[in-house]
Amino acid sequence: MAEQSARRQSKEQPGAEVSEAQIAVHWQEEKYYSPPKEFIAQANLTDKNVFKRMSLDKFPGYFKEFGELLDWDKKWDKIFDGSKPPFWRWFVGGRLNASSNCIDRHLAMHKNKTAIHFVPEPENEPIQHLTYQELYVRVNEFAALLRDSCGLKAGDRVTLHMPMVAELPIAMLACARLGVVHSQVFSGFSGKACADRASDSESHVLITMDAYHRGGKLLDHKEKADTAVAEAAKDGHKIDKVLVWQRYPGRYSSPAKLVDGRDFVVNELLPKYRGKRVEPAQMAADAPLFLMYTSGTTGRPKGCQHSIGGYLAYVAWTSKYIQDIHPEDVYWCMADIGWITGHSYIVYGPLALAASSVIYEGLPTYPDAGRPWRIAQELDVNIFHTSPTAIRALRKEGADEPAKYGYRFKHMTTVGEPIEPEVWKWYHAVVGKGRAAIVDTWWQTETGGFLCSTVPGIHKMKPGSAGPGVPGIHPAIYDDEGKELKAGSGKAGNICIRNPWPGVMQTIWKNPDRFVQQYYARYCKDRKSKDWRDWPYMAGDGAVQAKDGYYRILGRIDDVINVAGHRLGTKEIESAALLVPEVVEAAVVPVADQIKGKVPDLYVALKPGMKPSDDVAKKVSAAVVTEIGAIARPRQVVIVPDMPKTRSGKIMRRVLAAISNGQDPGDVSTLANPEVVDAIRGIVK
Ligand code: WT7
Repeated sequence: MAEQSARRQSKEQPGAEVSEAQIAVHWQEEKYYSPPKEFIAQANLTDKNVFKRMSLDKFPGYFKEFGELLDWDKKWDKIFDGSKPPFWRWFVGGRLNASSNCIDRHLAMHKNKTAIHFVPEPENEPIQHLTYQELYVRVNEFAALLRDSCGLKAGDRVTLHMPMVAELPIAMLACARLGVVHSQVFSGFSGKACADRASDSESHVLITMDAYHRGGKLLDHKEKADTAVAEAAKDGHKIDKVLVWQRYPGRYSSPAKLVDGRDFVVNELLPKYRGKRVEPAQMAADAPLFLMYTSGTTGRPKGCQHSIGGYLAYVAWTSKYIQDIHPEDVYWCMADIGWITGHSYIVYGPLALAASSVIYEGLPTYPDAGRPWRIAQELDVNIFHTSPTAIRALRKEGADEPAKYGYRFKHMTTVGEPIEPEVWKWYHAVVGKGRAAIVDTWWQTETGGFLCSTVPGIHKMKPGSAGPGVPGIHPAIYDDEGKELKAGSGKAGNICIRNPWPGVMQTIWKNPDRFVQQYYARYCKDRKSKDWRDWPYMAGDGAVQAKDGYYRILGRIDDVINVAGHRLGTKEIESAALLVPEVVEAAVVPVADQIKGKVPDLYVALKPGMKPSDDVAKKVSAAVVTEIGAIARPRQVVIVPDMPKTRSGKIMRRVLAAISNGQDPGDVSTLANPEVVDAIRGIVK
């Protein structure tokens, strides 16, 4: 039933017909696992009444509890302003600073406590432990530098293209201290991808690092800044200054030259700011804290704009009650800060709670699959957070490794993709040694923080299912006609959230129309309505809800492929392929992958007279890496004699996806060119 419904639903979406939604719908209902008694005994939230306290009829008052976790320079006048749907405002009239909430307010109690454990990838390099006092000093000095050397002020945007090092949260928090809006671009993205984001956000300053370690190599990173400046210039956008941190202070580790008057080595400028303090700017609660670009259905990535007050309150609350962070915990989220997971659950959430947060520079499986467990043992990590992709890789390369180390997790998280029940069970039994509570958290870049998850001290866990909405979040599944699909119906539909919440993005940067269109238009019955009840948020994921109320997320219903837990727009990859002069048409389809969940296969057709060759295929692949980054590199580039097309000329991605996944493409007799299907089958690996 659910299967049929998922198929029917995905038919509506051209291009996604062999959709991600096919994965999890086949999974059996699993039995429950109870969180350990010792966990419950110490948990921050065990009172089931929380769901009554935060029932829909009590919206928005219950979000007061979220705001109260923060220190305010001026308390808010009104908790929620819904007068211009769907542009919600939270904690209206309140003033605060995110940097002082994550640092200054902890100094009285915790100044000598480690805020950040930085773990370099090379195992012979010592781990750096940064106390809250040290973080305070370094953030202040760097904020002074940004203000006095770059003239940055509240409201300006700055692009960061930083690897996983302590200097990344330092830079973010320094921006936040000034009210400057940071836009961190994942370090694995290319210089061109960085340029696109810098230019869209109109950042005139780029903050980067000379080099970083990954997979046993010291990668040159500064070269990407040179590309970014050049590419932005082509787009008519000028990046005036590039600030380059040194991975090894005092030593420049990149072969790329420093450009006079444009590039500045941060570590050389910093001594001038020694001892400088910067008063945290008292910002309006609904001023933007950062932009985070993510892929959507159209070519260009969109800048999700997150607020200071609403966002910080939301990530602090969910860190405390879903991640169960206590100040004495050592918390390690192995995501990259270049993605929303890292922003919310490495930097802002944990630091708002005065936790110790681990930042690991490198590959989880470097030099071997025992590495994460050695780190956990050495730092006595007790809360661990990662993605199904990382879990699958660690299981494949070292299923017996965790048992060799003496760490002990009380709590573990999985995030970013559906997790196969088998993989969940390994995570639970082997990584968690059967003694940890696990949460499968479903959310998105747009949502700021968790939407669905079990509350670890209250609910039982069920492998392969995220769980109910977290307290304060009221999800619903709608079918294509807008009818609600009830729990236990067995039917898949579009998962939406009925109510606004403080962590939800404020808008798409410079594109409010697209914001309304993409997330709210589909299920809004009356665009003139001023009632938030008429504006459910549409996440863009397929889901089913079991009788017990747990949601199982089935994956994207749009042209987005989730590779290793990261979103790639098929249109972005196709546009990159079309930059190769020989290529006339391109189509990307998702292929199931044992480790990464999904990977892209890229089909291209060449202009008349052009000969297929390995060279052309390599050029296409290289174009994708240049435009987006290695993460989008296609598994294979298939040069086809012609694309399978409908009579109206639409490329049948469904057929290509079936071929790539070794499935039967079904009835192709209605195609304009059915004969091409066999020809393509002959070429594909
Ligand atoms: C997409 C969001 C969540 C932060 C990291 C990714 C998928 C996310 C789960 C989960 C199944 C999940 C969805 C979502 N997703 N969490 N627990 N189970 N699918 O953020 O890059 O914005 O991607 O990731 O498809 O829409 P993102």
